[in-house]
Amino acid sequence: MRPKHIVFGIASFFPGVQSLRSRLQPSVKKGHADSARYCYSVWLRHLVHAHRNGFNAWPETVAELGPGSSLGVGLSALITGSSKYYGLEVIDRADMEKNVAVFHELVEMFARREDIPDNNEFPDVKPLLATYDFPVHVLDENRMREALEKNRLESIRDSITKTGGRITYKAPWHEVDVIEKHTVDMIYSQAVLEHVDDLSNAYRAMALWLKPGGYVSHEIDFKSHKLAATWDGHWACSDFVWRLVRGNRPYLLNRAPLSEHLAMLELRGFKTRCRDIYRSEPSVAAEKLAPRFRGMSEDDRTSASAFIQASRGR
Ligand SMILES: C[S@@+](CC[C@H](N)C(=O)[O-])C[C@H]1O[C@@H](n2cnc3c(N)ncnc32)[C@H](O)[C@@H]1O
Repeated sequence: MRPKHIVFGIASFFPGVQSLRSRLQPSVKKGHADSARYCYSVWLRHLVHAHRNGFNAWPETVAELGPGSSLGVGLSALITGSSKYYGLEVIDRADMEKNVAVFHELVEMFARREDIPDNNEFPDVKPLLATYDFPVHVLDENRMREALEKNRLESIRDSITKTGGRITYKAPWHEVDVIEKHTVDMIYSQAVLEHVDDLSNAYRAMALWLKPGGYVSHEIDFKSHKLAATWDGHWACSDFVWRLVRGNRPYLLNRAPLSEHLAMLELRGFKTRCRDIYRSEPSVAAEKLAPRFRGMSEDDRTSASAFIQASRGR
């Protein structure tokens, strides 16, 4: 592990260090989701794959785990036709002004039917698409005309600043009852499930929230997030050192490999329809892995990220 991350982890046990760090280093607070182009790209990538995999690409109610620094992906869902959005975070990052600015930028991009920002602009963003043209086969002219109707957009814009409307934001969320059972059509996340501490509770909650036939769409990044010198170095770190690195931060990495996610999906009755795995060669020798990861399969060891779509009940 990189020594500075052990120091940050230990320091996080001291009250106030975390907020001091974000004040001294504003980049700690910023995120990809500050960019409307990023949010537009992420939403359309999930939607295009949902369509390709035979899922409902016009989900009425959507829920997102870990929207991050803006609600832009959820706003994209609302702009393209969804009626209700839940954003569930572990840290309260609500910033109304930012959300309003991102919303206006998104509306303009959808009005222009702009192409999807691709991997030249966002080289690390997955899932990849076969083509980055605006997906008219998913969002046809009739749907877009209806979706971009003036009163509808005004009501979405108003719901950013009012509570209890089309947008429900809950931070922190821990309890399953933050969303009523069997009310959600699509639950998605982008680069979040690798951070969730209680994965079992998260998958249980998702299974309860979904309507029958509803689905999840998750992009999961299994890499070490630069906490270690190599992409898979976090799996070589002993549990003791990992506890120091983890410290008292609100979240870090759960280090769960792909098979743990797939097992939890199966346990909760999901049927996986899409599993796009982006692979990298392992850099850590098998005998150097930490004891709890020593039995990792070849599949887990080479899975650097995965895009998974799975449905409940069908
Ligand atoms: C790498 S950021 C990704 C943010 C955003 N999805 C994006 O694509 O920019 C990970 C996010 O997951 C959130 N997070 C961590 N644990 C979580 C949990 N248990 N439930 C919901 N969000 C969580 C973090 O607060 C953070 O905003």
